[in-house]
Amino acid sequence: MKNTILVTGGAGYIGSHTTLALLEAGFEVIVLDNLCNSSVDSLNRVQKICNKLPIFIEGDIRDRILLNNIFTTYKISAVLHFAGLKAVGDSVNNPLEYYENNVAGSVNLCSAMAQANVFNLVFSSSATVYGESTQMPINERAPTATPTNPYGRSKLMVEELLKDLSYSDARWSIALLRYFNPVGAHQSGLIGEDPNGTPNNLVPYISQVAIGKLKKLSVYGDDYPTPDGTGIRDYIHVVDLADGHLKALQAISKTGGVNIWNLGTGIGYSVLEMIRAFEMASQKSVPFQIVNRRQGDIAECWADPMKAQQELGWKTERKLNDMMVDTWRWQSLNPYGYKTSSNSVK
Ligand code: NAD
Ligand code: UFG
Repeated sequence: MKNTILVTGGAGYIGSHTTLALLEAGFEVIVLDNLCNSSVDSLNRVQKICNKLPIFIEGDIRDRILLNNIFTTYKISAVLHFAGLKAVGDSVNNPLEYYENNVAGSVNLCSAMAQANVFNLVFSSSATVYGESTQMPINERAPTATPTNPYGRSKLMVEELLKDLSYSDARWSIALLRYFNPVGAHQSGLIGEDPNGTPNNLVPYISQVAIGKLKKLSVYGDDYPTPDGTGIRDYIHVVDLADGHLKALQAISKTGGVNIWNLGTGIGYSVLEMIRAFEMASQKSVPFQIVNRRQGDIAECWADPMKAQQELGWKTERKLNDMMVDTWRWQSLNPYGYKTSSNSVK
């Protein structure tokens, strides 16, 4: 019998790459996505790559009747839970939407899972739960801190509620995957990150400058206590990240309780190093100017990924140049993302 996985948010950036990895590994995949920040084209492109199509259900994780129907119709063994809103700035202006989608949505999903006797869950958490850690690299024993924005707090709240759930019922087996900074795209150039409007994150911004959609990059501060003064992050290729989910899925089918794993490379790069690496990979110039620090940003953040290496047998394979080459391939082949022109709908 086929092993069937429900992937919430599976049409999105990380979800589509993970759906591909699952299909390639022989899983049956059901994607539940309300398409609020994605296009179903990502899944059609997944089919182009691997010749397999997931079952796609357009719908919302907050819709309990729909969830009950999905769990009674399909024999699901585990859930990979990506669905949620993720824009930090937007979360400050619309906190209720973030708590409703990310927290209430997760509560709804877990209740439906419990009712259906499905207890294996992999949750997309974030390094943001560590706040401004003083210890670098950050391992999983580092204390969590209250994040500075509703998005980050929603991630920490879901982590806490999943721990409570696991303490209350030993049948739960949960992975909290703390992603560092996902970047890059599948090497086919067919799927990648397709932000709505002006990107907030560094790499999509750089690649839109390189292709001429944006004039210049603003570098948020060069007065941090780092070697070149700009912020340092641990950028991880999205295909390595997707592989980490498969390994976590395997692991939680054998363990129980809550397992926390950092998914990062263990190497930090500064904003200026990222610009130079992108220019090398794309042979395009990326004009930039130094501006004030962005509120809420931290100086540096990189992972100690040893726990995932030891317990999951997972480590990243792709280097900075691969991240940049693959980002540029995706950007140059798809200047409007999944849209066919600047004014078509996603
Ligand atoms: P994304 O926006 O591309 O994907 C999220 C998907 O969830 C989208 O397809 C969206 O349409 C869907 N969705 C949102 N709310 C939904 C709802 N209520 N019901 C059904 N579908 C819904 O984002 P991503 O970058 O792929 O991120 C995936 C997950 O990883 C998110 O939970 C995000 O918070 C987390 N994460 C992302 C990053 C990052 O930098 N990309 C870092 C750390 C954690
Ligand atoms: N940066 C710029 N200019 C930009 C965008 C970013 O200089 O236009 C700098 C930032 O100041 C930071 C670095 O580039 O030093 C990375 O910034 P990103 O916005 O790409 O990523 P963050 O580390 O701020 O945050 C990301 C996600 C969060 C997640 C966090 C940890 O956006 O949701 O990684 O996983 F919580």
